[in-house]
Amino acid sequence: PIPNPPAPLAKGQDGLKLSNDPAHPFITPGPDDLRGPCPALNTLANHGFLPRNGVARPDQIVTAVMEGLNLGNDFAKFLVYQAFLMNGNPLTNLMSIGMHTPLTGQNPPKPALVGGLSQHGTFEGDTSMSRVDAFFGDPAAFNQTRFNDLLDFSTKYGFNGTYDLNATAEFRFQRLQDSIMTNPELDFTAPRILSAYSEAVFPLVYFVDGRLNNRQLTQDAATSFFADQRLPADFHRQPAPVSFEVIEPMVGEIFAKHPFTPGVNHGKNNYQLMPNTPALSDFCGIYKDIVLRVIPAQYPRPSSQLKDALNKNLGFLFGAVKQQHNCTQVFPYGR
Ligand code: HEM
Ligand code: MG
Repeated sequence: PIPNPPAPLAKGQDGLKLSNDPAHPFITPGPDDLRGPCPALNTLANHGFLPRNGVARPDQIVTAVMEGLNLGNDFAKFLVYQAFLMNGNPLTNLMSIGMHTPLTGQNPPKPALVGGLSQHGTFEGDTSMSRVDAFFGDPAAFNQTRFNDLLDFSTKYGFNGTYDLNATAEFRFQRLQDSIMTNPELDFTAPRILSAYSEAVFPLVYFVDGRLNNRQLTQDAATSFFADQRLPADFHRQPAPVSFEVIEPMVGEIFAKHPFTPGVNHGKNNYQLMPNTPALSDFCGIYKDIVLRVIPAQYPRPSSQLKDALNKNLGFLFGAVKQQHNCTQVFPYGR
């Protein structure tokens, strides 16, 4: 029995709210608690918006990001069901927000990965802002050197030293240039290009206190989320649900400052363009690529039980994109 995705927060319950409240105390994760590459989900787990062991159902994650940070329902579902199809266990409906764990139950047959969010080359990918590329080390672990660069770019390019849209644009592009120069195995193609650019913008929206809501993240607040994986004291979420309609224009703006073409490195500083893969602006192309290429690579010929579960989750994913984007639904396993 796979639960349907949660509904949007009810009217009147979807506004400004204290997230760092007594019902959600910060507790340092224990040695067996899983944490991974996403500072937001790690933080939400540390405050009990998600199970503190780091293993959750997709619907729980949708609820957690709506409640804790006021992600819009569509946008939350898009992120979660995309990640779940790449990294979760469709048979048990569980996913690790970190590395693979037996707690997600018996795996479906290979080449399925069920790797958790830390699995490189699925949702997790290169040119992250606070993590190293997988070629250099653990791509899920917070990296202080990388994060110091984020702070330096804020000091240099942001208004009053904040991480704002201008700092984001410069830092996002520098991260790509750095990986092109140093990572012989850099892969910067769909779907990673979309997550890389979206995640660059998330902090200056969702990590800014909703009472201020000025799209300027202070270095103290950035440090709280990224390094401490902790909500700042008295943190209030966004004053209204924030979805595609806010994030996408911001992504468009930072892209316009420094455009790029998808590609992969064949050795250091040898970036081969892949103009026939979906571009950052081609949202429906990226959706189609996920559904027809990325997911079937792990589930080429699913048994009937598995196929039913995959089809349900693929339906939830499409449900998240059809409102805002006029994509045509695609069916890797038939209707
Ligand atoms: C990475 C924020 C929701 C999965 C990131 C990063 C940020 C971020 C800033 C980039 C870290 C870096 O580049 O070093 C957020 C915010 C969210 C959110 C603010 C919602 C409020 C989600 C959800 C999922 C997810 C719902 C999936 C269920 C990931 C993964 C990465 C990531 C897999 C690693 C990508 C990489 O950098 O390689 N997130 N996230 N995030 N997030 Fe989230
Ligand atoms: Mg990464």
